Amino acid sequence: SKKPIRVAITGAAGNIGYALLFRIASGQMFGPDQPVALNLIEIEPGMNALRGVAMELDDCAFPLLTEIVQTSDLNVGFKDVNWALLVGSVPRKQGMERADLLGINGKIFVGQGKAINDNAAADVRILVVGNPCNTNCLIAQKHAPKIPAERWFAMTRLDENRAKTQLAQKASVPVKDIANLCVWGNHSPTMFPDFYNAKISGKPALDVIGDETWLKDTFVPKVGKRGAEIIAARGASSAASAANAVVDTVVSLTTKTAPSEFHSVCVLSSGEYGVPEGIITSLPIKSDGEKWEVVKGVQLTDYAKEQIAKSNQELLDEREMALAAL
Ligand code: NAI
Repeated sequence: SKKPIRVAITGAAGNIGYALLFRIASGQMFGPDQPVALNLIEIEPGMNALRGVAMELDDCAFPLLTEIVQTSDLNVGFKDVNWALLVGSVPRKQGMERADLLGINGKIFVGQGKAINDNAAADVRILVVGNPCNTNCLIAQKHAPKIPAERWFAMTRLDENRAKTQLAQKASVPVKDIANLCVWGNHSPTMFPDFYNAKISGKPALDVIGDETWLKDTFVPKVGKRGAEIIAARGASSAASAANAVVDTVVSLTTKTAPSEFHSVCVLSSGEYGVPEGIITSLPIKSDGEKWEVVKGVQLTDYAKEQIAKSNQELLDEREMALAAL
């Protein structure tokens, strides 16, 4: 029988956690033949709720789930993990400046980076979801010297999925017919969903939709503000769709990408496409099932380059604020 993949999830008793754990334990992240062990990490006030969630996992009797660890101790939580899904973070409260938020979370992610560095399995890979996810990821990465930089990811897949559905609905085609939709930059309203390279049923999205003004002035902001639209409607932030995007991101990194497809993942930039080096920024990624790479040869229009540069400037500013606060 296969050795279980051990997965740590921080913020495991939160809303995304509640939608995510059951999908991992049921086999949707690593496949129907792969056992999994879950290391559920919460802060002390979340431990009681976490016990309830663990009881529900027990009550699902998932055949693939071999063990549940519940802890608020990072050294226990990250022990021998093959994947660390960093979902928990401190939300922005009223009156809190962006710099404060970056500082508070920066300190949390320093601790998590160190604990992952000291305890995780040799092959650990990390996906940061908790916002500001790009900068949180960068801070943790900088404090984990043993772990190769290419093992660190932050999540823009929810933005990609949102963008794909918007194009599909506009073009009246099934969403599976949309491909090559890369969201570039920061996971924030400044991100740029690159409709110029997107394909609808194999044809350029611009040709199929035939309305560049709609793409620039309606589609792009719609994707950027979708999170706020969901909060307004649901009274709570996206949780099931975020958890779904976590599953999609891990699947895309661990299985072979279709030949002409790519997906949005935030990785540590080494200057591809002229983006600044040393930020965790969203780029078009493909995988051979084990190794990933930034897809080469994507042609960017001047408008796209301008939008991407703005979003990456925001990441440079965030990095500066976060480092200053540490
Ligand atoms: P939530 O507030 O329901 O749950 C967060 C959980 O994390 C809570 O149970 C809390 O006790 C726990 N937590 C807080 N600090 C922690 C720490 N230092 N260590 C361990 N656990 C900790 O929030 P929700 O809805 O689950 O969202 C989680 C995060 O994901 C938020 O930062 C949110 O902004 C972000 N998010 C990111 C998305 C993306 O596309 N990258 C999409 C949607 C949400």
